[in-house]
Amino acid sequence: MDNRRWSLFNHRFFLQPQVKLGTMAQTDAIRWNNRYQEESFLALREPRSLLIEACEWLPEGGCALDLAMGLGHNAAYLMQRGLKVIGVDISFIALQKAKSLCPQIMAICADLESFSLPANTFDVILNFYFLQRSIWDQVRKWLKPNGLLIVETMTQEMKALKPEIDERFLLQPNELKRTFADFEILLYREGWQDRNGEHPRAVASLVARKPSKLS
Ligand SMILES: C[S@@+](CC[C@H](N)C(=O)[O-])C[C@H]1O[C@@H](n2cnc3c(N)ncnc32)[C@H](O)[C@@H]1O
Repeated sequence: MDNRRWSLFNHRFFLQPQVKLGTMAQTDAIRWNNRYQEESFLALREPRSLLIEACEWLPEGGCALDLAMGLGHNAAYLMQRGLKVIGVDISFIALQKAKSLCPQIMAICADLESFSLPANTFDVILNFYFLQRSIWDQVRKWLKPNGLLIVETMTQEMKALKPEIDERFLLQPNELKRTFADFEILLYREGWQDRNGEHPRAVASLVARKPSKLS
Protein backbone atom coordinates (compact mmCIF):
# COMPACT_ATOMS: atom_id res chain seq x y z
CA MET A 1 0.00 0.00 0.00
CA ASP A 2 1.42 3.41 -0.86
CA ASN A 3 1.87 6.24 1.66
CA ARG A 4 -1.18 8.13 0.50
CA ARG A 5 -3.38 5.16 1.31
CA TRP A 6 -1.74 4.51 4.65
CA SER A 7 -2.41 8.09 5.60
CA LEU A 8 -6.13 7.28 5.58
CA PHE A 9 -5.56 4.73 8.30
CA ASN A 10 -3.05 6.73 10.29
CA HIS A 11 -5.60 9.39 11.12
CA ARG A 12 -6.28 8.59 14.75
CA PHE A 13 -9.82 9.87 14.92
CA PHE A 14 -11.97 11.19 12.12
CA LEU A 15 -15.03 11.87 14.21
CA GLN A 16 -16.26 15.41 13.85
CA PRO A 17 -19.42 16.23 15.79
CA GLN A 18 -19.59 19.58 14.01
CA VAL A 19 -19.19 18.08 10.54
CA LYS A 20 -20.47 20.56 7.93
CA LEU A 21 -23.52 19.14 6.18
CA GLY A 22 -26.08 20.54 3.75
CA THR A 23 -29.62 21.13 5.02
CA MET A 24 -31.00 17.78 3.80
CA ALA A 25 -28.03 15.94 5.21
CA GLN A 26 -28.40 17.75 8.52
CA THR A 27 -31.99 16.56 8.74
CA ASP A 28 -30.84 13.00 8.00
CA ALA A 29 -28.09 13.24 10.59
CA ILE A 30 -30.50 14.43 13.27
CA ARG A 31 -33.02 11.72 12.38
CA TRP A 32 -30.41 8.97 12.53
CA ASN A 33 -28.78 10.34 15.68
CA ASN A 34 -32.18 10.26 17.37
CA ARG A 35 -32.81 6.71 16.22
CA TYR A 36 -29.45 5.56 17.53
CA GLN A 37 -30.36 6.93 20.93
CA GLU A 38 -33.44 4.70 21.14
CA GLU A 39 -32.73 1.46 22.96
CA SER A 40 -34.85 -0.56 20.51
CA PHE A 41 -32.62 0.52 17.62
CA LEU A 42 -29.59 -0.95 19.32
CA ALA A 43 -30.98 -4.45 19.03
CA LEU A 44 -28.71 -5.44 16.15
CA ARG A 45 -25.56 -6.67 17.78
CA GLU A 46 -24.40 -9.23 15.25
CA PRO A 47 -22.65 -8.91 11.92
CA ARG A 48 -25.03 -9.32 8.97
CA SER A 49 -25.48 -12.97 8.05
CA LEU A 50 -24.50 -12.24 4.43
CA LEU A 51 -21.09 -11.08 5.64
CA ILE A 52 -20.56 -14.33 7.51
CA GLU A 53 -21.75 -16.26 4.48
CA ALA A 54 -19.24 -14.36 2.33
CA CYS A 55 -16.31 -15.14 4.63
CA GLU A 56 -14.92 -17.75 2.22
CA TRP A 57 -14.18 -14.92 -0.24
CA LEU A 58 -12.78 -12.42 2.26
CA PRO A 59 -9.05 -11.70 2.08
CA GLU A 60 -6.98 -12.43 5.20
CA GLY A 61 -5.82 -8.83 5.45
CA GLY A 62 -6.01 -5.53 3.65
CA CYS A 63 -8.34 -2.57 3.88
CA ALA A 64 -12.10 -2.43 3.96
CA LEU A 65 -14.64 0.36 3.68
CA ASP A 66 -17.99 0.06 5.44
CA LEU A 67 -20.49 2.46 3.84
CA ALA A 68 -23.17 3.73 6.23
CA MET A 69 -21.50 1.63 8.91
CA GLY A 70 -24.03 2.15 11.69
CA LEU A 71 -23.03 0.56 14.99
CA GLY A 72 -19.93 -1.15 13.62
CA HIS A 73 -20.80 -4.83 13.99
CA ASN A 74 -19.84 -5.62 10.41
CA ALA A 75 -16.66 -3.56 10.66
CA ALA A 76 -15.72 -5.27 13.93
CA TYR A 77 -16.17 -8.67 12.27
CA LEU A 78 -13.80 -7.68 9.47
CA MET A 79 -11.27 -6.35 11.97
CA GLN A 80 -11.35 -9.64 13.85
CA ARG A 81 -10.47 -11.28 10.55
CA GLY A 82 -7.39 -9.10 10.17
CA LEU A 83 -8.63 -6.27 7.96
CA LYS A 84 -8.27 -2.57 8.69
CA VAL A 85 -11.63 -0.84 8.39
CA ILE A 86 -12.80 2.67 7.62
CA GLY A 87 -16.46 3.18 8.44
CA VAL A 88 -18.42 6.14 7.09
CA ASP A 89 -21.74 7.27 8.47
CA ILE A 90 -23.73 10.46 8.78
CA SER A 91 -24.65 9.69 12.39
CA PHE A 92 -22.11 10.86 14.90
CA ILE A 93 -23.89 8.88 17.63
CA ALA A 94 -23.64 5.64 15.63
CA LEU A 95 -19.93 6.23 15.06
CA GLN A 96 -19.31 6.92 18.73
CA LYS A 97 -20.99 3.63 19.60
CA ALA A 98 -19.02 1.82 16.89
CA LYS A 99 -15.78 3.25 18.28
CA SER A 100 -16.67 2.08 21.77
CA LEU A 101 -17.37 -1.42 20.40
CA CYS A 102 -14.13 -1.47 18.44
CA PRO A 103 -11.73 1.45 19.04
CA GLN A 104 -9.52 0.52 16.07
CA ILE A 105 -12.25 1.32 13.52
CA MET A 106 -11.41 4.48 11.59
CA ALA A 107 -14.69 6.35 11.76
CA ILE A 108 -15.58 9.14 9.34
CA CYS A 109 -18.63 11.24 9.97
CA ALA A 110 -19.76 12.34 6.50
CA ASP A 111 -22.61 12.53 4.04
CA LEU A 112 -22.05 9.82 1.45
CA GLU A 113 -23.88 11.94 -1.10
CA SER A 114 -20.88 14.22 -1.26
CA PHE A 115 -17.93 12.11 -0.36
CA SER A 116 -14.75 11.06 -2.02
CA LEU A 117 -11.81 8.74 -1.46
CA PRO A 118 -8.80 7.73 -3.58
CA ALA A 119 -9.36 5.14 -6.32
CA ASN A 120 -8.08 1.55 -5.98
CA THR A 121 -7.85 1.71 -2.20
CA PHE A 122 -10.05 -1.04 -0.77
CA ASP A 123 -9.88 -4.83 -0.83
CA VAL A 124 -13.44 -5.05 0.48
CA ILE A 125 -16.41 -2.66 0.43
CA LEU A 126 -19.55 -3.28 2.49
CA ASN A 127 -22.84 -1.57 1.70
CA PHE A 128 -25.53 -2.85 4.04
CA TYR A 129 -29.01 -1.31 4.19
CA PHE A 130 -28.15 2.03 2.66
CA LEU A 131 -29.18 2.75 -0.92
CA GLN A 132 -27.42 5.66 -2.53
CA ARG A 133 -27.22 4.90 -6.24
CA SER A 134 -25.10 7.99 -6.93
CA ILE A 135 -22.10 6.45 -5.15
CA TRP A 136 -22.01 3.22 -7.15
CA ASP A 137 -19.63 4.65 -9.75
CA GLN A 138 -17.34 5.70 -6.93
CA VAL A 139 -17.61 2.31 -5.26
CA ARG A 140 -16.30 0.71 -8.45
CA LYS A 141 -13.34 3.07 -8.37
CA TRP A 142 -12.60 2.79 -4.66
CA LEU A 143 -12.30 -1.01 -4.93
CA LYS A 144 -8.95 -2.40 -5.92
CA PRO A 145 -8.84 -4.78 -8.91
CA ASN A 146 -10.11 -8.17 -7.60
CA GLY A 147 -11.64 -6.36 -4.61
CA LEU A 148 -14.79 -7.78 -3.03
CA LEU A 149 -18.11 -5.94 -2.94
CA ILE A 150 -20.82 -7.05 -0.50
CA VAL A 151 -24.21 -5.35 -0.75
CA GLU A 152 -27.55 -6.07 0.84
CA THR A 153 -30.54 -3.78 0.99
CA MET A 154 -34.30 -3.75 0.67
CA THR A 155 -36.24 -4.34 -2.54
CA GLN A 156 -39.57 -3.08 -3.83
CA GLU A 157 -41.22 -6.21 -2.44
CA MET A 158 -40.98 -4.46 0.89
CA LYS A 159 -43.89 -2.27 -0.19
CA ALA A 160 -46.21 -5.21 0.40
CA LEU A 161 -45.39 -4.95 4.09
CA LYS A 162 -44.68 -1.23 4.43
CA PRO A 163 -46.43 0.74 1.67
CA GLU A 164 -45.22 4.01 3.18
CA ILE A 165 -41.54 3.37 2.34
CA ASP A 166 -40.14 5.82 -0.20
CA GLU A 167 -39.59 3.93 -3.51
CA ARG A 168 -36.24 5.67 -4.03
CA PHE A 169 -34.78 3.65 -1.18
CA LEU A 170 -35.87 0.29 -2.60
CA LEU A 171 -34.11 -1.77 -5.26
CA GLN A 172 -35.83 -2.75 -8.50
CA PRO A 173 -35.87 -6.46 -9.39
CA ASN A 174 -32.34 -7.55 -10.39
CA GLU A 175 -31.07 -3.97 -10.09
CA LEU A 176 -27.92 -4.87 -8.14
CA LYS A 177 -27.10 -7.68 -10.51
CA ARG A 178 -27.53 -5.40 -13.54
CA THR A 179 -25.52 -2.58 -11.97
CA PHE A 180 -22.55 -4.82 -11.27
CA ALA A 181 -22.94 -7.08 -14.31
CA ASP A 182 -19.31 -6.47 -15.27
CA PHE A 183 -18.15 -7.86 -11.89
CA GLU A 184 -17.77 -11.57 -11.20
CA ILE A 185 -20.99 -12.39 -9.35
CA LEU A 186 -20.18 -14.84 -6.55
CA LEU A 187 -23.59 -14.75 -4.87
CA TYR A 188 -26.87 -13.11 -5.81
CA ARG A 189 -30.36 -13.60 -4.51
CA GLU A 190 -33.57 -11.78 -3.76
CA GLY A 191 -36.10 -12.81 -1.16
CA TRP A 192 -37.49 -12.42 2.33
CA GLN A 193 -35.47 -12.59 5.51
CA ASP A 194 -36.94 -13.17 8.96
CA ARG A 195 -40.34 -13.59 7.23
CA ASN A 196 -42.19 -14.58 10.39
CA GLY A 197 -39.88 -12.89 12.83
CA GLU A 198 -39.49 -9.45 14.40
CA HIS A 199 -37.82 -7.73 11.43
CA PRO A 200 -39.19 -9.20 8.21
CA ARG A 201 -37.56 -7.65 5.16
CA ALA A 202 -37.46 -8.21 1.42
CA VAL A 203 -33.86 -7.84 0.30
CA ALA A 204 -31.43 -8.31 -2.55
CA SER A 205 -27.99 -9.67 -1.60
CA LEU A 206 -24.89 -9.48 -3.74
CA VAL A 207 -21.30 -10.63 -3.33
CA ALA A 208 -19.19 -9.74 -6.35
CA ARG A 209 -15.56 -9.37 -7.31
CA LYS A 210 -14.25 -6.44 -9.31
CA PRO A 211 -12.45 -7.72 -12.38
CA SER A 212 -8.69 -7.24 -12.58
CA LYS A 213 -9.30 -4.96 -15.57
CA LEU A 214 -12.50 -3.00 -15.94
CA SER A 215 -13.36 -2.17 -19.55
C1 LIG B 1 -30.32 0.96 8.27
S1 LIG B 1 -28.82 1.65 8.86
C2 LIG B 1 -27.64 0.44 8.32
C3 LIG B 1 -26.43 0.40 9.20
C4 LIG B 1 -25.45 -0.74 8.90
N1 LIG B 1 -24.90 -0.64 7.56
C5 LIG B 1 -26.08 -2.09 9.13
O1 LIG B 1 -26.05 -2.94 8.27
O2 LIG B 1 -26.60 -2.32 10.21
C6 LIG B 1 -28.53 2.98 7.68
C7 LIG B 1 -27.32 3.84 8.04
O3 LIG B 1 -27.11 4.81 7.02
C8 LIG B 1 -26.63 6.00 7.64
N2 LIG B 1 -26.88 7.11 6.69
C9 LIG B 1 -28.08 7.58 6.29
N3 LIG B 1 -27.90 8.57 5.38
C10 LIG B 1 -26.55 8.71 5.20
C11 LIG B 1 -25.74 9.54 4.38
N4 LIG B 1 -26.28 10.43 3.56
N5 LIG B 1 -24.39 9.41 4.45
C12 LIG B 1 -23.85 8.50 5.30
N6 LIG B 1 -24.56 7.67 6.09
C13 LIG B 1 -25.90 7.77 6.04
C14 LIG B 1 -27.44 6.08 8.92
O4 LIG B 1 -26.87 6.91 9.89
C15 LIG B 1 -27.47 4.62 9.33
O5 LIG B 1 -26.39 4.31 10.19
